[in-house]
Amino acid sequence: MKILRTPTAMTAWSRRLRREGVTIGFVPTMGALHDGHRALIRAARLQCDALVVSIFVNPAQFAPTEDLAKYPRPIAKDRALCRTEGVDICFEPGGAAIYPEGFETVVTVPGIAQRWEGEIRPHHFAGVATVVTKLFGMVRPDMAVFGQKDFQQAALVRRMIDDLNLGVALIVYPTVREHDGLAMSSRNIYLSEAERARAPILYKSLQAGAAAIKDGITAGRKIQSMMTQVLRQESAATVDYLAVCDPDSLAPLTSVHDRAVLLGAIRIGTVRLIDNVVVRRPATRGRQKRGCQE
Ligand code: PAF
Repeated sequence: MKILRTPTAMTAWSRRLRREGVTIGFVPTMGALHDGHRALIRAARLQCDALVVSIFVNPAQFAPTEDLAKYPRPIAKDRALCRTEGVDICFEPGGAAIYPEGFETVVTVPGIAQRWEGEIRPHHFAGVATVVTKLFGMVRPDMAVFGQKDFQQAALVRRMIDDLNLGVALIVYPTVREHDGLAMSSRNIYLSEAERARAPILYKSLQAGAAAIKDGITAGRKIQSMMTQVLRQESAATVDYLAVCDPDSLAPLTSVHDRAVLLGAIRIGTVRLIDNVVVRRPATRGRQKRGCQE
């Protein structure tokens, strides 16, 4: 595995391989790699000839009040995981390489970014969209793998790829969970033992929403209130949002017709957890007769 640190070296490597007809896969990360990342890397490995993983803790997607300074950076461990998984290039650009002096362009996807995470972290998605566009420009991948765990981020990247004709095939890989359902995240290490024991409540509440939809409940408000009820069982958790949404636009649904994504974000102590579940409404006889296929 090679470590590249500059955009020039990265692009030169990519150009050469593309000329030779090699397909390039890409997994962008902020490091602190865990088994969730490992699954993304493995999924990418199966789809391409050469694989690039980037490790860059992107300051532009953190608010001044957030955890940029303390964000975990176990670089030796991250490189070892990449090596074990057969990564060809570990791309580790520094801040000055990504945001050199004079840098001023910002990529925004206002519709998808306006709600949920975007409301609570107003500058977050512009930071993500800008850095992902830049990384795509440097790595020139044929395909890129993102985790479903960050559902809104994946929706935003999809929109951006289409709108800007970036020519990257997007693969969204299912969320990898701990044994008790907690979605894997680099930030889980911030949870104390007591908080960690409480953290699965978010997934439990999303599962309750999914079960309600499978049982035939369609009213968005009702589903949302059922999720909230489950979450209230854990008094230490505060809810940022629990929502029943259209999986493409992320607009809230008053009624679930076909598919929905249940989005949730809570705080336990100072730790913020996000998660989601995509649900397809089961076909009923009446709906089948009217030609609804599921
Ligand atoms: O999901 C992440 O780790 C980051 O948001 C990403 C996509 C690497 C951009 O910094």
